Amino acid sequence: MARLLPRFDKPRPAADGVMQRIYDAAATGWQDGIAKLGFLDAYAQLMQAAPGKPTPRVMDVGTGTGAFAAAWIAANGRPRALTLLDLSPVMLDTAAARVPTDRAIAASIGAPLEDVPLQDVILCAHVIEHLDDPATALAWLYARLAPGGLLVLALSKPHWCTALVRWRWGNAAFSPTQAREMLDQAGFAQIATHPFQSGPPSRVSCGYTALRH
Ligand SMILES: C[S@@+](CC[C@H](N)C(=O)[O-])C[C@H]1O[C@@H](n2cnc3c(N)ncnc32)[C@H](O)[C@@H]1O
Repeated sequence: MARLLPRFDKPRPAADGVMQRIYDAAATGWQDGIAKLGFLDAYAQLMQAAPGKPTPRVMDVGTGTGAFAAAWIAANGRPRALTLLDLSPVMLDTAAARVPTDRAIAASIGAPLEDVPLQDVILCAHVIEHLDDPATALAWLYARLAPGGLLVLALSKPHWCTALVRWRWGNAAFSPTQAREMLDQAGFAQIATHPFQSGPPSRVSCGYTALRH
Protein backbone atom coordinates (compact mmCIF):
# COMPACT_ATOMS: atom_id res chain seq x y z
CA MET A 1 0.00 0.00 0.00
CA ALA A 2 1.25 3.50 -0.81
CA ARG A 3 2.67 5.41 2.12
CA LEU A 4 -0.13 7.76 3.25
CA LEU A 5 1.33 9.38 6.33
CA PRO A 6 4.16 11.92 6.16
CA ARG A 7 7.52 10.96 7.66
CA PHE A 8 7.86 11.68 11.36
CA ASP A 9 11.12 10.04 12.37
CA LYS A 10 13.26 13.20 12.72
CA PRO A 11 12.43 16.39 14.61
CA ARG A 12 12.54 19.64 12.67
CA PRO A 13 16.09 20.99 13.08
CA ALA A 14 16.32 23.86 15.58
CA ALA A 15 19.26 26.21 16.04
CA ASP A 16 21.00 26.37 19.43
CA GLY A 17 18.80 27.98 22.07
CA VAL A 18 15.65 27.96 19.94
CA MET A 19 14.01 25.02 21.75
CA GLN A 20 14.49 26.71 25.11
CA ARG A 21 13.06 29.99 23.83
CA ILE A 22 10.04 28.22 22.28
CA TYR A 23 9.20 26.52 25.58
CA ASP A 24 9.99 29.58 27.70
CA ALA A 25 7.39 31.42 25.63
CA ALA A 26 4.89 28.54 25.83
CA ALA A 27 5.01 28.11 29.62
CA THR A 28 2.14 30.47 30.51
CA GLY A 29 -0.57 28.68 28.53
CA TRP A 30 0.89 25.16 28.64
CA GLN A 31 -1.05 23.67 31.54
CA ASP A 32 -4.45 24.92 30.30
CA GLY A 33 -3.61 23.74 26.79
CA ILE A 34 -2.77 20.16 27.75
CA ALA A 35 -5.77 20.04 30.11
CA LYS A 36 -8.16 21.06 27.30
CA LEU A 37 -6.69 18.40 25.00
CA GLY A 38 -7.22 15.64 27.60
CA PHE A 39 -3.59 14.96 28.52
CA LEU A 40 -4.14 15.28 32.27
CA ASP A 41 -6.69 12.44 32.13
CA ALA A 42 -4.37 10.43 29.85
CA TYR A 43 -1.42 10.90 32.23
CA ALA A 44 -3.63 9.86 35.18
CA GLN A 45 -4.59 6.63 33.33
CA LEU A 46 -0.97 5.85 32.54
CA MET A 47 0.16 6.34 36.14
CA GLN A 48 -2.67 4.05 37.34
CA ALA A 49 -1.36 1.36 34.97
CA ALA A 50 2.31 1.82 35.92
CA PRO A 51 3.76 -0.44 38.62
CA GLY A 52 4.20 1.36 41.96
CA LYS A 53 7.49 1.68 43.85
CA PRO A 54 7.80 1.99 47.65
CA THR A 55 9.09 5.45 48.73
CA PRO A 56 10.95 6.14 45.52
CA ARG A 57 13.25 8.86 44.32
CA VAL A 58 11.43 10.26 41.29
CA MET A 59 12.73 12.55 38.55
CA ASP A 60 10.51 14.13 35.86
CA VAL A 61 12.67 14.89 32.82
CA GLY A 62 11.38 17.63 30.51
CA THR A 63 8.80 18.36 33.17
CA GLY A 64 7.13 21.33 31.44
CA THR A 65 4.53 22.53 33.95
CA GLY A 66 4.93 19.38 36.05
CA ALA A 67 1.78 17.60 34.81
CA PHE A 68 3.41 14.15 34.52
CA ALA A 69 4.95 14.45 38.00
CA ALA A 70 1.60 15.59 39.43
CA ALA A 71 -0.08 12.54 37.87
CA TRP A 72 2.54 10.26 39.48
CA ILE A 73 1.91 11.87 42.89
CA ALA A 74 -1.89 11.60 42.50
CA ALA A 75 -1.55 7.85 41.80
CA ASN A 76 1.24 6.96 44.23
CA GLY A 77 1.51 9.69 46.88
CA ARG A 78 4.48 11.91 47.60
CA PRO A 79 7.80 10.31 46.69
CA ARG A 80 10.80 10.29 49.01
CA ALA A 81 12.38 12.91 46.78
CA LEU A 82 11.10 14.61 43.63
CA THR A 83 13.50 16.17 41.12
CA LEU A 84 12.21 18.22 38.19
CA LEU A 85 14.46 18.85 35.19
CA ASP A 86 13.82 21.00 32.12
CA LEU A 87 15.78 22.86 29.49
CA SER A 88 13.42 25.83 29.89
CA PRO A 89 13.92 27.78 33.13
CA VAL A 90 10.46 29.37 32.71
CA MET A 91 8.78 25.96 32.41
CA LEU A 92 10.80 24.75 35.39
CA ASP A 93 9.73 27.70 37.58
CA THR A 94 6.11 27.09 36.58
CA ALA A 95 6.39 23.39 37.48
CA ALA A 96 8.11 24.10 40.80
CA ALA A 97 5.31 26.52 41.73
CA ARG A 98 2.66 23.86 41.00
CA VAL A 99 4.29 20.65 42.29
CA PRO A 100 6.09 20.45 45.65
CA THR A 101 9.63 19.57 44.59
CA ASP A 102 12.89 18.84 46.38
CA ARG A 103 15.09 19.94 43.51
CA ALA A 104 14.63 21.80 40.23
CA ILE A 105 17.39 21.53 37.63
CA ALA A 106 17.58 23.73 34.53
CA ALA A 107 19.53 21.43 32.22
CA SER A 108 19.27 19.34 29.08
CA ILE A 109 18.93 15.58 28.84
CA GLY A 110 22.52 14.36 28.68
CA ALA A 111 23.80 16.71 31.40
CA PRO A 112 26.24 14.96 33.79
CA LEU A 113 24.12 15.46 36.99
CA GLU A 114 27.06 14.17 39.03
CA ASP A 115 25.55 15.06 42.41
CA VAL A 116 22.08 13.69 41.63
CA PRO A 117 21.55 10.13 42.95
CA LEU A 118 20.28 7.33 40.74
CA GLN A 119 16.49 7.37 40.60
CA ASP A 120 13.91 4.65 41.33
CA VAL A 121 11.46 6.20 38.86
CA ILE A 122 12.05 8.45 35.86
CA LEU A 123 9.10 10.15 34.18
CA CYS A 124 9.50 11.58 30.69
CA ALA A 125 6.55 12.83 28.60
CA HIS A 126 6.90 14.17 25.07
CA VAL A 127 10.55 15.16 25.24
CA ILE A 128 12.51 12.45 23.40
CA GLU A 129 10.74 13.33 20.15
CA HIS A 130 12.34 16.79 20.21
CA LEU A 131 15.89 15.45 20.25
CA ASP A 132 18.24 14.81 17.32
CA ASP A 133 19.47 11.59 18.92
CA PRO A 134 16.62 9.82 20.75
CA ALA A 135 18.72 6.66 21.23
CA THR A 136 21.37 8.55 23.21
CA ALA A 137 18.64 10.28 25.23
CA LEU A 138 17.05 6.94 26.15
CA ALA A 139 20.47 5.55 27.08
CA TRP A 140 20.96 8.58 29.36
CA LEU A 141 17.56 7.94 31.04
CA TYR A 142 18.56 4.28 31.52
CA ALA A 143 21.88 5.31 33.10
CA ARG A 144 20.10 7.71 35.51
CA LEU A 145 17.96 4.83 36.89
CA ALA A 146 18.96 2.58 39.78
CA PRO A 147 18.91 -1.18 38.98
CA GLY A 148 15.26 -2.29 38.80
CA GLY A 149 14.19 1.33 38.33
CA LEU A 150 11.08 2.24 36.37
CA LEU A 151 10.74 4.50 33.33
CA VAL A 152 7.29 5.93 32.57
CA LEU A 153 7.37 7.40 29.08
CA ALA A 154 4.88 9.18 26.82
CA LEU A 155 5.96 9.51 23.22
CA SER A 156 4.27 11.05 20.17
CA LYS A 157 3.10 8.56 17.57
CA PRO A 158 2.42 9.05 13.84
CA HIS A 159 -1.12 10.19 12.93
CA TRP A 160 -2.61 12.92 10.77
CA CYS A 161 -3.32 14.89 13.95
CA THR A 162 0.37 14.53 14.84
CA ALA A 163 1.23 16.24 11.55
CA LEU A 164 -0.58 19.33 12.88
CA VAL A 165 1.26 19.08 16.20
CA ARG A 166 4.56 18.69 14.34
CA TRP A 167 3.78 21.75 12.19
CA ARG A 168 3.51 23.79 15.42
CA TRP A 169 6.22 22.16 17.58
CA GLY A 170 8.57 20.41 15.16
CA ASN A 171 8.57 17.10 17.03
CA ALA A 172 9.26 13.64 15.62
CA ALA A 173 6.89 10.72 16.31
CA PHE A 174 7.45 6.98 16.72
CA SER A 175 5.06 4.05 16.32
CA PRO A 176 4.68 1.78 19.34
CA THR A 177 6.78 -0.81 17.48
CA GLN A 178 9.58 1.73 16.91
CA ALA A 179 9.33 2.95 20.49
CA ARG A 180 9.63 -0.58 21.89
CA GLU A 181 12.66 -1.26 19.67
CA MET A 182 14.32 1.94 20.85
CA LEU A 183 13.67 1.07 24.51
CA ASP A 184 14.98 -2.44 23.93
CA GLN A 185 18.15 -1.10 22.27
CA ALA A 186 18.69 1.27 25.21
CA GLY A 187 18.75 -1.80 27.48
CA PHE A 188 15.27 -1.65 29.04
CA ALA A 189 13.39 -4.81 30.07
CA GLN A 190 9.70 -5.60 30.68
CA ILE A 191 8.65 -2.98 28.14
CA ALA A 192 4.88 -2.47 28.20
CA THR A 193 2.72 -0.35 25.90
CA HIS A 194 -0.18 1.58 27.46
CA PRO A 195 -2.27 3.16 24.67
CA PHE A 196 -4.19 6.26 25.73
CA GLN A 197 -7.89 5.53 25.71
CA SER A 198 -9.62 8.55 24.18
CA GLY A 199 -9.48 12.00 22.64
CA PRO A 200 -6.40 13.67 21.14
CA PRO A 201 -3.94 11.72 23.35
CA SER A 202 -5.21 8.44 21.85
CA ARG A 203 -4.40 9.75 18.37
CA VAL A 204 -1.12 11.59 18.81
CA SER A 205 0.62 9.78 21.66
CA CYS A 206 1.17 6.51 23.50
CA GLY A 207 2.35 5.57 26.99
CA TYR A 208 5.07 3.04 27.91
CA THR A 209 6.61 1.57 31.02
CA ALA A 210 9.97 -0.20 31.15
CA LEU A 211 12.48 -1.33 33.76
CA ARG A 212 16.23 -1.03 34.07
CA HIS A 213 17.80 -4.47 34.51
C1 LIG B 1 6.17 18.85 24.84
S1 LIG B 1 6.78 19.56 26.32
C2 LIG B 1 6.26 18.33 27.50
C3 LIG B 1 6.17 18.89 28.89
C4 LIG B 1 5.61 17.91 29.93
N1 LIG B 1 6.44 16.74 30.08
C5 LIG B 1 4.20 17.53 29.59
O1 LIG B 1 3.94 16.37 29.23
O2 LIG B 1 3.33 18.39 29.68
C6 LIG B 1 8.52 19.26 26.19
C7 LIG B 1 9.31 19.77 27.37
O3 LIG B 1 10.63 19.25 27.26
C8 LIG B 1 11.54 20.31 27.46
N2 LIG B 1 12.75 19.97 26.70
C9 LIG B 1 12.95 20.04 25.37
N3 LIG B 1 14.18 19.60 25.06
C10 LIG B 1 14.76 19.24 26.22
C11 LIG B 1 16.04 18.72 26.56
N4 LIG B 1 16.95 18.47 25.62
N5 LIG B 1 16.31 18.48 27.85
C12 LIG B 1 15.39 18.71 28.81
N6 LIG B 1 14.16 19.22 28.56
C13 LIG B 1 13.85 19.48 27.27
C14 LIG B 1 10.85 21.56 26.99
O4 LIG B 1 11.40 22.73 27.56
C15 LIG B 1 9.42 21.29 27.43
O5 LIG B 1 9.16 21.74 28.74
